[in-house]
Amino acid sequence: MDIEDKVNHLIKLLESSEYTIAFTGAGISAESGVPTFRGRGGLWEKFDPLKLATPEAFREDPRRVWEWYKWRMEVIAKAKPNPAHIVLAKLEEKGIVKAIITQNVDGLHQRAGSKNVIELHGNIWRARCTNCNYKTRLQEPPRKIPPKCPECNNPLRPDVVWFGEPLPRKAWEEALNEASKADLIIVVGTSGVVQPAAMIPVIVKYHGGKIVDINIEEDNYTNIADLFIKTKAGQVFKTLGEKLKLI
Ligand code: APR
Repeated sequence: MDIEDKVNHLIKLLESSEYTIAFTGAGISAESGVPTFRGRGGLWEKFDPLKLATPEAFREDPRRVWEWYKWRMEVIAKAKPNPAHIVLAKLEEKGIVKAIITQNVDGLHQRAGSKNVIELHGNIWRARCTNCNYKTRLQEPPRKIPPKCPECNNPLRPDVVWFGEPLPRKAWEEALNEASKADLIIVVGTSGVVQPAAMIPVIVKYHGGKIVDINIEEDNYTNIADLFIKTKAGQVFKTLGEKLKLI
């Protein structure tokens, strides 16, 4: 089946769904120029996650961790939402997609216009104090690193979830709630290897829902998906958006 046929199949699944949600990973932002973590050219090929994305790494060397996040913020600041983010936002506007559960911290879904975005791994444009409840939005990468808390002068940290840390409770509960209501989940650009986030599509399947898996290579959902579209996300959603006259 070529992409046209697969997108027509996706449209049929959307038409027969009462409650569609999306679950996204780094691959949906790849065509916006934001590097993925795994797969060819992924960040974890070049950088050691244990030195950059754990609470221990931050305690040991907050400067090094902030240098890396500053670099990622600079890359993300230059990135623009691609057709995958844009068409998902349009599908939400039409009431077709009810929620986007994302593992991404880049904020590109919101910049594309999506409203109901559940960020399981936090957001790179927020920082929080390591000591008190202070939290702030960052309009640009911090000049002085590590930035200090204006309330108690302790170091601020990126408001993202590191390996070994629990997911934000509210986001996780919202995600579970959406997954329990969904009869269709569109999984886009994720390897599906990081728990507990990776459970979300499986919960939809468990409740009798269907999975559409969009990836440029097989991932952990391919074997349980009702439809696997092995194409770049931007291309799939451009075709979908044109067929549904959303773009
Ligand atoms: N279109 C669709 N899929 C793509 C594209 C693309 N243009 N480019 C890459 N991919 C796929 C890759 O094949 C891969 O399966 O996106 C997936 C990205 O996987 P990961 O890099 O593992 O990203 P993700 O699944 O989001 O990682 C989950 O791991 O490191 C942690 O906290 C980090 O949120 C992240 C979590």
